Amino acid sequence: FHLDIDPTAADKGAYPFFMLKEIDEQAIVTRTLIEHYFVNGLPHINEKIIQAIKQSDRLYIVAAGTSYHAGLIGRRFFEKWAGIPTETHIASEFAYDRPIISKKPFFIFISQSGETADSIQVLDFVQKESYPSLTISNVMNSTLTRESDFALPILAGPEIAVASTKAYTAQIMTQVILAAAIAGGHSELQEELSRLAIDLQAEIDGKEKIKQIADKYLVNANRTFYIGRGADADSTLEAALKLKEISYTLVEGFAAGELKHGTISLIEQATPVIGLISQSKMAGLTRSNLEETMARGAKAVTIVTKNLATKDDDIILPALTGEMEMFGPILEAIPIQLLAYYTSLGRNLDVDHPRNLAKSVTVQ
Ligand code: AGP
Repeated sequence: FHLDIDPTAADKGAYPFFMLKEIDEQAIVTRTLIEHYFVNGLPHINEKIIQAIKQSDRLYIVAAGTSYHAGLIGRRFFEKWAGIPTETHIASEFAYDRPIISKKPFFIFISQSGETADSIQVLDFVQKESYPSLTISNVMNSTLTRESDFALPILAGPEIAVASTKAYTAQIMTQVILAAAIAGGHSELQEELSRLAIDLQAEIDGKEKIKQIADKYLVNANRTFYIGRGADADSTLEAALKLKEISYTLVEGFAAGELKHGTISLIEQATPVIGLISQSKMAGLTRSNLEETMARGAKAVTIVTKNLATKDDDIILPALTGEMEMFGPILEAIPIQLLAYYTSLGRNLDVDHPRNLAKSVTVQ
């Protein structure tokens, strides 16, 4: 159904749940980011941020939960486009178990709320060491945005559902824009993001097939696995978190190549194994991993970009070729969010308020 969607509205209007409204808003949020960050067709970021990052020798992205997953995807753009070695860390781990830190580090915090205690704890350390820091957030007057040296908004509008959706894709795209601005170019990025907004809208309009798959294979599953390789392996972590946190299914997302090193022992008759396939050079490998699970009774489901798809694939995403393959996790976000939404709905659960969870985790 098409409703007049307003990402800045903090009420769900005709939507049954905030989560569905927020999933639907992701194409509009992409356009908001383009309008905000592009000037004369080029990404435009505060020059002080660009200079501070250019003086660093290593980026450390620090976040929790879904924001950590967004940082795993963003890392790839900072390395490939800006050419800066980048590490992504779970905030609660980094706080107590730090790696050797480079001589000229730059810290990037990603946080929808800007109030996550685990992340604030790391920012306290960063400031004690006088390291430079930037926070990418949906709330610009929050603790993290106020206390770090710099802040960039993700402009997603209020995200009410506990399960983060539009903030995830907006956090990734804000990192993409920043990486392009550091690289000093990517004049085609505005066009690519405009294309992405159209593709996201097309996926959002194709919900029915995804609902059928959730109803048929996921609602009654007592465990589900997501597998993928490269950027798709990172994507499986967010896919698993979405499904587990609102449907209460035991879900694991992991690198497809790891199946034979242990997890394949958990495959039983009709266990859903969902393959994320958007990276051409590893597509065949993931497909053979899926076949290994099918030989042990699994129900394999594939989420594939059109250029890599066959007629037997289950969910076909818009095509991504060449360097655009790096945007695979952004296109995968819609189906993984909707599979979680419809599985939770199929179990008559409170999609927006999953048990034991709060929207912002302000305790360590
Ligand atoms: C997202 O679906 C989760 N509810 C949760 O993991 C969240 O991403 C995490 O708590 C981090 O929150 P933040 O982005 O506000 O820092």
